[in-house]
This record gives sequence, C-alpha cells and structure tokens, in this order.
Amino acid sequence: MKILVTGGTGYIGSHTCIQLIQAGYTPVIVDNLCNSKISVLPRIKRIAGHEITFIQADVRNKEAMVDILQGHDIDAVIHFAGLKAVGESVEHPLEYFDDNIHGTLTLIDAMREAMIKRLIFSSSATVYGDPASVPITEDFPTSATNPYGRSKLIVEECLTDFQKANPDWSITLLRYFNPVGSHPSGLLGEDPQGIPNNLMPFVAQVAVGRREFVSIFGNDYPTQDGTGVRDYIHVMDLADGHIAALQHVGPKAGLHVYNLGTGNGYSVLDMIHAFEKACGKTIPHQFASRRSGDIAECWADPSKAKQDLKWSAKRNLEEMTADAWRWQSTNPQGYPED
Ligand code: NAD
Ligand code: UD1
Repeated sequence: MKILVTGGTGYIGSHTCIQLIQAGYTPVIVDNLCNSKISVLPRIKRIAGHEITFIQADVRNKEAMVDILQGHDIDAVIHFAGLKAVGESVEHPLEYFDDNIHGTLTLIDAMREAMIKRLIFSSSATVYGDPASVPITEDFPTSATNPYGRSKLIVEECLTDFQKANPDWSITLLRYFNPVGSHPSGLLGEDPQGIPNNLMPFVAQVAVGRREFVSIFGNDYPTQDGTGVRDYIHVMDLADGHIAALQHVGPKAGLHVYNLGTGNGYSVLDMIHAFEKACGKTIPHQFASRRSGDIAECWADPSKAKQDLKWSAKRNLEEMTADAWRWQSTNPQGYPED
C-alpha cells in the first residue's frame, strides 16, 4: 500500500516513514522543506535499506497535490505538514491559519479529486485547552488558547463536517501528547530551528553545551513538585500509533478520534533528572516565572486507542531520554544543511 506522507521530512513524519516501511507500506514524502532539511532523506534510506520517493511541494498547491496523488497511486494520506510553534503563531496567526487550515482544506480537495478517501490527521492535545481534570479522554470539551491550537481545532471541526457529508471517507484525528526521543540509531531526531520552544530539545541542547541552563517555567503549580506535568511519549511509539490507525480504522469509513499518549505524567524536574541519568551530566537549571498559556498538568487516558487500535506506548522514560541523548550527542548541530 502506498501512503502519502505530507511533512515526511519533519520530526514525527521521518520516524513514521521508517515504521511504515518496517510494516510493509511504501511511503511517498511531500514536504516543502520550510522546517526540515533534505539531509534527512539519506538517513531514512540508510535505516530503511532503500530509496524513498520524495517530492518537494507545498500542500497548498492543489494541482501539484492532485498530480502526486494520482501519479503515485496513493491509497491513503498521513498529513503531518504544518507549522507548530505556539509563540510564533501568536505573532503570525495568518501564516498559521494559511498553512494549517488552508493547507489541509486544499489537501482534502485534492484527495477528493483523486478519489482517495483515507486520511490520518496530526492533531494535538492542545485542542483540550485547559482541561478540568486528568487523565483526558477523547470526549473532553475542546477549546483553543492560541492561534496554533485554534488552527488544529478548526481543522478537526472542518474534517468532522466533511466526513459527515462524505460518509464513505475514513478520517482519523490523532491527538498527540508530548512527543520526545529519537530513532534508536541516532540518525534521526528532533532538530528545532533557533531556540527550542519545547522542553526536551532545550534540555538536550544544554546537555551538549549549546545553551547554558534550562529555565523551568513555574515551580508553584499544584503538582507533586510544583513544576508542570505532561504526558511525554517516545516518537517511535507515536509513529507506531499511525501504523495501528492505518491498519485498524483506516479501512473503516467514519470519523475516528484517538489520544496518542502513554497515560503517565512526568514533571519538568522528573524530565531533567531522567536526562541527567541518560547523559551522565548535571543539567544546570533555574526557576523562572510561568510561561503564559501553560497549564499545570496534562496527560492522556489512552484506553480508547488500546481497545480499538490494539496500540499502546511501549517505550519508557529511560528510552526516551537515552535515545534523545544519542541523537543530540552525535548530531550536536542537528542535521547538516544538505
Ligand atoms: P515538523 O515541523 O518537524 O514537521 C512538519 C513538516 O511539514 C516540516 O518538514 C515542514 O517542512 C513541512 N511543512 C510545513 N508546511 C508545509 C506545507 N505547506 N507543505 C508541505 N510541507 C510543509 O513538525 P513535527 O513535530 O514533525 O509535527 C508534525 C505534525 O504534528 C504537525 O502538524 C504538528 O502540528 C503536529 N503535532 C506536533 C507535536 C510536537 O510536539 N512535535 C505535538 C502535537 C501535534
Ligand atoms: C507545547 C505547546 C502545545 C504543543 C506542544 C507540542 C505551549 C503553551 N504549548 O506544549 O500547544 O502542542 O508544545 O509542540 O507552548 N518548560 C520549561 N522550560 C522550557 C520549556 C518548557 O519549564 O524551556 C515546561 C513547560 O512549562 C511545560 C513543560 O516544560 O510544563 C513542557 O513544555 P513543552 O515541551 O513546551 O510542551 P507543552 O507546553 O506541553
């Protein structure tokens, strides 16, 4: 089966391509390289043992997308392409709405023309806003607290309406919690441009000496140690969740919604201490004020995915931090330019 992977040279997309190949699928990558580097491709090839088809294109280009979908005989689409930095979305909301919303609408329009009716969409736990309690199940109320979150929520709503009007389509919304870690080979990993927004890449850059210390955003939350608690999930487990969705609900018409998380919450201090163990160094850190828009705690109830997709996260905190460190220590500056 051929799977179009939009955003396939990005962090989650590249790891998912590896797992797709392992599971016997043929991924075809489309990416405009706005947040990834072409040098990811030879690394995917090295792990997979063969070439992978890559097309540099923008998902907002409908003609190009129709050509690709038809020309490559695509059976289903996993749509990772989009912009993901919350702070940047507050400064540039239009760019976010254009890439994330217009991009997805153009893609489904192209899929409709090419008569391809299976889509898996990268959503986020951000659609739960500030949840009233944890763990979070899929039927919790949704809300947006920033333009990035709004773009995910609007796309979810558009896809829900679209699927209602086109009941023979299979559309799966996967709500990711906090992806961390890297491929165990150390060849693929997370390579943020500029100063990392997310905790784990920041910690990894401190460990490798690129940054001086980690600022912990708030130590006065009502959590066990006062720092924010999240559901960190190994990116390889997340990748496997996509394969499980393709296999178990991909062939079933309907609108399918799943949390992809581990069901465990770890605090910022837990993560820093786990990383210290993995890298054998002390990670300097300082307490700072809360980051605007942050919530105290957020973790998933992943039981729906376990039941329907026969999937659950397998890799523990030790593997998340060990793999992240392997990637960061062997690629201190991230991927090469070309
Ligand atoms: P990423 O930035 O590493 O990958 C996204 C890829 O999409 C990049 O390679 C970028 O070049 C490409 N892209 C962006 N706009 C495009 C366009 N218009 N046309 C073609 N390619 C385009 O991000 P990621 O961490 O791999 O995230 C993948 C998806 O998962 C995103 O939709 C993101 O919002 C969602 N998500 C990510 C996280 C996370 O923490 N990483 C959490 C929840 C949801
Ligand atoms: C953030 C986004 C969320 C997005 C997710 C994945 C915000 C408000 N939320 O989630 O919408 O889906 O990334 O990309 O940006 N922390 C520090 N110091 C740091 C960085 C983070 O203490 O330098 C803390 C945060 O306060 C939080 C935890 O670490 O408690 C995790 O932060 P982060 O990795 O940014 O993820 P989220 O905030 O959960």
